[in-house]
Amino acid sequence: MKNNHSEIFTPGSIIGIMGGGQLGRMTALAAANLGYRCHIYTDEINTPAAQVSEQVTIASYEDIEALTQFAETVDVITYEFENIPLSTANLLSQLKVLRPSPSVLAISQHRAYEKDFAIQNGVRVAPYKAIKGIDDLEPAVEMLGTPCVLKTCRFGYDGKGQIKINSFDEIEPAWNQLCGHDLVLEKFIKFEREISVIVARDVNHHTKVYQPVENRHVNHILDTTIVPANITEKTTNLATTMSLMLANSLNLIGLLAVEMFVMEDESVIMNEIAPRPHNSGHWTQDGSQTSQFEQFVRAITGQPLGETGMIRPITMKNLIGNAIDQVPVFFNDSNAKIHLYGKAEVRPGRKMGHINIITKN
Ligand SMILES: Nc1ncnc2c1ncn2[C@@H]1O[C@H](COP(=O)(O)OP(=O)(O)O)[C@@H](O)[C@H]1O
Ligand SMILES: [Mg+2]
Repeated sequence: MKNNHSEIFTPGSIIGIMGGGQLGRMTALAAANLGYRCHIYTDEINTPAAQVSEQVTIASYEDIEALTQFAETVDVITYEFENIPLSTANLLSQLKVLRPSPSVLAISQHRAYEKDFAIQNGVRVAPYKAIKGIDDLEPAVEMLGTPCVLKTCRFGYDGKGQIKINSFDEIEPAWNQLCGHDLVLEKFIKFEREISVIVARDVNHHTKVYQPVENRHVNHILDTTIVPANITEKTTNLATTMSLMLANSLNLIGLLAVEMFVMEDESVIMNEIAPRPHNSGHWTQDGSQTSQFEQFVRAITGQPLGETGMIRPITMKNLIGNAIDQVPVFFNDSNAKIHLYGKAEVRPGRKMGHINIITKN
């Protein structure tokens, strides 16, 4: 293990990024601004991140030879999505400094471990039950009550791998669709709104936290983020304290995004965490003193963190699927900051870009 936990990588160093998506792309752009160079490792051709990076390796996430060669060419490694195999993260961390550490990845790539971890740290989550087989499911639905949501523990994103169960008749069809995976059943929460907080934590364990933002989903995909969130001071404090506590308990070096449900009584429930830049943090590119991508690069290279204050209110709008056709409209709006991901193929539900609209107070 390359466990020099406080090692600093100076500009000119090469950051290896596992994953080729838009989060990797915007991380690579921020890295370039700070004088770092990026090498993307992805299993797909022509990815958003590879388009803007100096080097790219296209190979399977389990190709030990390719991973070893990749590690030899970089100074520090990170990941832009959680679904790289844990064995791959462990291998990379033996070859080079990997931030965040494999232990952070292990928890955050598995919904049940993530919830267990939250509970151990006194953080409230929706009532849940790990599901091992069909025999567990009916008693769990009975215990949690309907409606509830059956989710795969791994590989879920944008609502993929989850099915709402409204009545006992829906148990079997849900099981038939998701069986074969580790599953977790959650109570369906009647929340007031959804918010998220992003925390950065550096090698010296200093933290900076962005203010909570409000997230509106359409078809389980983030559609709009509103900054600032319309929440009380009590909710802000609870959300911020919870997020800092989680980052500290994980001994994180990097970024942690914490998705939460706000309840009628102003309390918060953790939904899920992600140890990387997050879609709900894109507003920071045009609305904060330090963008989440710059902050991420600072954290993983061992540099001090930037300030996280809001410099102006922003509404972030995702361009999903055909919404990309509206780009000309946004070019005509002088308050719209356009961020496109360079994806050639438009697919329903695919995130093609986002717009940060500078809103009036
Ligand atoms: N237990 C729940 N109760 C109510 N709504 C939920 C629940 N779980 C998920 N959702 C809704 O579905 C969205 C996506 O679910 P989430 O667990 O965050 O998965 P992912 O973002 O990985 O697809 C959430 O942001 C929320 O709007
Ligand atoms: Mg989510």
